[in-house]
Amino acid sequence: MSKAVISATGLWTPTDSISNDELVASYNQWAEAWNQDNQSAIETGEVEAKPLSSSAFIEKASGIKSRFVISKAPILDPEVMAPRIAERPDTELSLLAEIAVAAAKDAMATAGRDAKDVDTVLVACSNLQRAYPAISIEVQDALGIEGFGFDMNVACSSATFGIATAQGMIESGQAKSVLVCSPEICSGHLNFRDRDSHFIFGDVATAVLVEAEEMAPDGAYNICGSVLKTKFSNNIRNNFGFLNRAAPDGIGADDKLFVQEGRKVFREVVPLVAEMINEQLQDLKIDPKSLKRMWLHQANLSMNNFITKKVMGEGASDDMAPVILDEYANTSSAGSIIAFHKTKSDFVKGDKGLICSFGAGYSAGTIVIEKR
Ligand code: COA
Repeated sequence: MSKAVISATGLWTPTDSISNDELVASYNQWAEAWNQDNQSAIETGEVEAKPLSSSAFIEKASGIKSRFVISKAPILDPEVMAPRIAERPDTELSLLAEIAVAAAKDAMATAGRDAKDVDTVLVACSNLQRAYPAISIEVQDALGIEGFGFDMNVACSSATFGIATAQGMIESGQAKSVLVCSPEICSGHLNFRDRDSHFIFGDVATAVLVEAEEMAPDGAYNICGSVLKTKFSNNIRNNFGFLNRAAPDGIGADDKLFVQEGRKVFREVVPLVAEMINEQLQDLKIDPKSLKRMWLHQANLSMNNFITKKVMGEGASDDMAPVILDEYANTSSAGSIIAFHKTKSDFVKGDKGLICSFGAGYSAGTIVIEKR
């Protein structure tokens, strides 16, 4: 039986970014116009006025300062307030596959890999661009990889579930080199006219190359263990699907986009994740204080501070749980992988760390790693 290692990671970031101030200005312009158009109904109490958003609230409540996006101008246009991405003919690479390929190439180049070295492609993300054929098979074809691919969706935990799936495939002998790609175009499922959530998400793509230890390049990371957990909850939900494709694009379609009970998510998920990490470390006989770093899901800064203290103790420094959500916002399953990608270079042989995701489902996944 081969053990699984993480050989390399890759990242693709859109060029355009939107600051909180830009986003709030566009939302407030739209809300003020809506309130004016509906003034008499608001006065009679028939409808509620749209409340205004504020950059100060967004940064204080979430830690988010900006987000990268694929389609900036339409998102900021009060007449549109959604990404507008031209449909491509079937003969062209789809957008989701294109950004997954970019992140995959970055990971493959870092590990010195060629298409012939890789035998499996998993596309693991929150929002798949189409029902079929699988995006992963398109990515496999674009990269010229033999073997097979499949898509998987466990919302914000897709990447860690993907890494754990790759680990299982390697340990069972089914594959030797697995690319786990997480292209996350989160602006596509975000309701930019909902004041309570319009600031939450951004776009990005990540890739993680998981391989059998006998082919590990220098500087790879052993996977010491992975734990996955799901528990049904309606507190983060998106009802969009193939049975409701005719839903109108305006009022009444809001449940076909991301909706959440943010406070409940905070209250319920934080203890679940902290307990899960502590149990896993206990099982692996790793003293939490000996962990050098935790690359946590990037949804909310206070949430991460809370989990970090519960696992690493009150004295945990910012360096122990790096933050990228200030610049990227919540990028669903890619968030903890971006943090890992950007802040692992100081790891030396024997250093241990933990990648952790949590989100809709509820779902949570943790991968404990050790630098080889
Ligand atoms: N601008 C200004 N004020 C706003 C606002 C905005 N954009 N959005 C909400 N507010 C107001 C609310 O109306 C509320 O006002 P009230 O106290 O008068 O009722 C107040 O600010 C607090 O709102 P609340 O929604 O309770 O904020 P919060 O402190 O819980 O922060 C989240 C909201 C979403 C940032 C936070 O709950 C969170 O991050 N939760 C976890 C979410 C998560 O991990 N989700 C997973 C997604 S994959």
